Amino acid sequence: MKLATAMAATPEQSSQLLKLAPPRVLADPVVTGKLQALNLADITRRLDEITRALPPVNAGLDEMLKSRLTAFTRERGNAAAGEQLFQTNCAVCHRIGVKGNLVGPQLDGIGARGAERLLEDILDPNRAVDPAFRMHFVKKRDGGVLGGLLRREQDDQLIFADAAGQEHAVKKADIAEDQESPYSLMPMGLNEVLAGQALNDLLEYLLARKS
Ligand code: HEC
Repeated sequence: MKLATAMAATPEQSSQLLKLAPPRVLADPVVTGKLQALNLADITRRLDEITRALPPVNAGLDEMLKSRLTAFTRERGNAAAGEQLFQTNCAVCHRIGVKGNLVGPQLDGIGARGAERLLEDILDPNRAVDPAFRMHFVKKRDGGVLGGLLRREQDDQLIFADAAGQEHAVKKADIAEDQESPYSLMPMGLNEVLAGQALNDLLEYLLARKS
């Protein structure tokens, strides 16, 4: 997914990407958003042809959330293992205590939300995205595309943060188009990354973060 996101940044590589990547990868909001932001008729048409036949990304989501909640209530998890998982999968964007980056919201006290709400936040990140955390797709005058969160303005530049927590400065004068999407920078597909007991461990750790 990381590779696909990087490749969607220029016309040449995007063309390759359309040939090589599985449809599900192309349908990821970040990949799709960047490809569309290139604003090239041929690429948009091919993308549309490839992804049209896919079922909607959130098909079956409610059942998935329910079965993950049931599994958690039955098994519970190991908070120490969960902390490791947090460092590996979440800390590039989230901070708890003094560890982690501040690309996404700070998660101190997040345990107060309870398991059901946390599962929604983790497995369905696009459900309700705060405007401050929406992805921007920026098309530059040189044809390149960047996807990320708008962090701040600095003199004649806009500073964006990408999905790896890395900041990129773009001169305002070099921006041809800046589109805000309804999507979160938070990755989809964490259900697969956190298969089986892993999600229970992570939840156990997060639920203990009550202050
Ligand atoms: C690439 C960056 C990124 C990664 C990686 C990431 N998140 Fe997020 N997360 C965000 C952003 C941005 C938001 C805010 C927008 C939204 O609600 O989707 C967010 C929102 C959340 C929220 C809701 C917070 C609130 O205040 O409403 C929770 C909980 C959360 N993430 C947990 C996690 C966990 C757990 C992981 C690891 C499994 C993770 N995130 C991985 C970027 C990320």
